[in-house]
Amino acid sequence: MHYAPAADRYNNMTYQRCGKSGIQLPAISLGLWHNFGSIDNFENGRSIIRHAFDKGITHFDLANNYGPVPGSAEENFGRILKKDFSGHLRDELIISSKAGYTMWPGPYGDFGSRKYLISSLDQSLQRMQLEYVDIFYSHRPDPNTPIEETMGALHSVVQQGKALYVGLSNYNAEQTKAALAVLQSLGTPCLIHQPKYSMFERWVEGGLLDVLEANGVGCIPFSPLAQGLLTDRYLHGIPAGSRASKPSGFLQENDITPEKIEKVKKLHALAQQRGQSLAQMALAWILKDKRITTVLIGASSVAQLDDNLDTLKNTSFSKEELDTIETILK
Ligand SMILES: NC(=O)c1ccc[n+]([C@@H]2O[C@H](COP(=O)([O-])OP(=O)(O)OC[C@H]3O[C@@H](n4cnc5c(N)ncnc54)[C@H](OP(=O)(O)O)[C@@H]3O)[C@@H](O)[C@H]2O)c1
Repeated sequence: MHYAPAADRYNNMTYQRCGKSGIQLPAISLGLWHNFGSIDNFENGRSIIRHAFDKGITHFDLANNYGPVPGSAEENFGRILKKDFSGHLRDELIISSKAGYTMWPGPYGDFGSRKYLISSLDQSLQRMQLEYVDIFYSHRPDPNTPIEETMGALHSVVQQGKALYVGLSNYNAEQTKAALAVLQSLGTPCLIHQPKYSMFERWVEGGLLDVLEANGVGCIPFSPLAQGLLTDRYLHGIPAGSRASKPSGFLQENDITPEKIEKVKKLHALAQQRGQSLAQMALAWILKDKRITTVLIGASSVAQLDDNLDTLKNTSFSKEELDTIETILK
């Protein structure tokens, strides 16, 4: 069916400046790690992407290895772009990809060499049928490759016009400082950092966020719902079709511990008092920090996406609520 994007798509989304750059990102961005691979229902993924754009989500996050099978999320996203986002709609989108985790066999399909990063981005562009991505990331630090080489590769892809901006993912505060210095010296500043951050995973508070702020770099936390744990999904066991129920999902059954569910239940009760869902409270809790540019969610249905979008109706917390959350998380 022909898709015409909603005329009011920019009316209800908040856009926030990414560090000290010219780019603004929607407060909520959508990632294609799960639910968009060749094992998933194509039309479901397509309707999620269309709906996201209708609601002002302009940023879609991919990586070479998203699937399964690896590469298939980029392929499917490319098909959706071709079908639904033709013409100048590409110019309304911020599309990212990454390389850093295992993608192909042998020594050149993993980590952070110039060889891997540049050839992987070429493959990603082919799969998505794009001339350029907006953001290209080093997906993880490589302890065995000089940081000058990895950052030099990011700089090169910008020079080559294959990416407009570059980013870092999963680099700790010290690694980030070193990478930012090299990028700065090359004249390709880092746009954004993508770390794992949620109520259950708070390492970024120990220094990374300060480094980003001091250097004018934006922040896009991934898995802000702890892959679904910080929602009502697992309040009463592991439902069929959930990420934890699937062999291909990165959330494992044994991640759903009684201790975690105990906390989730208390958080859920607090969210209800605030008049929002737990998912909404978990996203709002991340967005309350001004150093955060956008939260990078996943969704397996349009209904989940809508639930998450309604976060923006209430993102403020009283001191008492924040204290209660800390007590629950202890
Ligand atoms: N840079 C990196 O190393 C890295 C690593 C991981 C992820 N990422 C990026 O971050 C994105 C998001 O990661 P994520 O998918 O783990 O994020 P998440 O938002 O923490 O988890 C998303 C999952 O939670 C469940 N969910 C979402 N909204 C819900 C709601 N309102 N109610 C109930 N359940 C809900 C769904 O799982 P069900 O399937 O159970 O419905 C959904 O697939 C990825 O797509 C990717 O772009 C990056």
